[in-house]
Amino acid sequence: MKFTIISSLVAGVVIVGAGTSLAYRRAAPSGAASAAATEDYGRRLLTETSMLMGPDQPDPSKRYTGSRLQCGSCHLKAGTEPGTLALVEAFPKYPRVSGRDGGVGDIKQRINGCMTRSMNGRALPLDSVEMNAMSMYLRTLGEQYVVTSVSRRATHEPKAFVTPDRAANPEAGKRVYETRCAICHGGDGLGLRSTNTPSRGYVFPPLWGPDSFNDGAGTHRVLTAARFIKTRMPLGKPDLSDDDAFDVAAYINVQPRPEMADLEKDYPDRTTKPVDNPYGPYADPFPIEQHRLGPFKPIEAFYAKLKKAGS
Ligand code: HEC
Ligand code: HEC
Repeated sequence: MKFTIISSLVAGVVIVGAGTSLAYRRAAPSGAASAAATEDYGRRLLTETSMLMGPDQPDPSKRYTGSRLQCGSCHLKAGTEPGTLALVEAFPKYPRVSGRDGGVGDIKQRINGCMTRSMNGRALPLDSVEMNAMSMYLRTLGEQYVVTSVSRRATHEPKAFVTPDRAANPEAGKRVYETRCAICHGGDGLGLRSTNTPSRGYVFPPLWGPDSFNDGAGTHRVLTAARFIKTRMPLGKPDLSDDDAFDVAAYINVQPRPEMADLEKDYPDRTTKPVDNPYGPYADPFPIEQHRLGPFKPIEAFYAKLKKAGS
C-alpha cells in the first residue's frame, strides 16, 4: 500500500511517510526532547488513565474519564501487545469513515469514542495536552511498527473467536465466570481495588458496575467482547472454547453498567449497525434480545440480502 502522510500535529515534528519506509525529522534538539517526553506522557495516559485524567486525578478540571479503567485494561501493554485490540497499526488507518458517528473521523475523534464509551467519560478537547500526547504516542507506535513489523512477529495468539450458531446463554456464562474469571475480577464483577495505592485504580478491573465501561462501548457488544475474551482471558492463560467465550461475554453484558445518553443517534445509517449492537433502532425486524444475544446468522443473512438487493 502506498501512502503519504504529512502531518504536523505537534509543533516541531514533521513526518513524511511513503510506502513502507518512514523517515522523520525533528526540527530542533529541544523539539526532539519534548517530543520524546510527549510520547512518554501519552503512553502513561494509556496505562495510568484513571490517575492522570480520571476520577483519581487531584485536579477536578482534568477528570475526563468516569470509569476507573485504564486504556490499557483493554489495549494491553499500552496497545503494544500484538493481536486483539493492539494499537500498533491504528494511527495510519485514520482519518476514516465511522458508521457509528456517521462521517469521517480522525484518530483524535476515535480516541474520544473510547473516552466517552469505554471510559464512560467526556470528550477531551482536541487540542488538549492529553489528546496531543496520546495521538503522538499512537503515531510513534505506528512508525515503529512500520519499521520493525513488531506485531508481525510470531505470537502465541490463540485461535480467533468463531460465533456459535445459537443464542448466547448468560446462565451458562455465569458458571464460566465463577470458575474462570471471578478469582481476579471478583464474584461481584466489580474488580479488585488497589489497597496500597488507591489512586492507581484497580489491580483487576471491574467488568460491570459504576467504574466500568458504559452501555455504548464496543465491549458491550457480545461478539466484540467474546473476541477479546477468547484471545486474552483468563489473562495469561486464554484457553476458553468459543462456546464459553460467547456465554461469558453474554453474562457480563447483561449486568448493570453506566448508561450513555442519546445512543439512538448512533449509526445514522442504520444498515451499517453491527448485528450485535445491543441498542436500537434497527433497519431490520429482529427483536432487541436477538441483537444482544444472537443467534446472529439470521440477522447477517438479512443484511447480506439487503446489500445484494441494493447493489
Ligand atoms: C473496555 C475496553 C476499552 C477501553 C478501556 C478502551 N478501549 Fe479503545 N477500543 C476498544 C474496542 C472494543 C475498540 C474497537 C476495536 C475495533 O473496532 O476493532 C477500540 C478501538 C480503539 C481505537 C481504534 C483502533 C483502530 O485500530 O482503529 C483507538 C485509537 C483506541 N481504541 C484508543 C483508546 C484509548 C486512548 C483509550 C483510553 C482513553 C481506550 N481506547 C480505552 C476497547 C477499549
Ligand atoms: C489472572 C487474573 C485474571 C483472570 C482469571 C481473568 N482476568 Fe480479565 N483481566 C485481568 C486484568 C489484569 C485485566 C486488565 C489488563 C491489564 O491491565 O493489563 C483484565 C481485563 C479484562 C477485560 C477488559 C477490561 C474490563 O474491565 O472490562 C475483560 C472484558 C475481561 N478481563 C474479562 C475476563 C473474563 C471474561 C475472564 C474469565 C474468562 C477473565 N477476564 C479472567 C485479569 C484477569
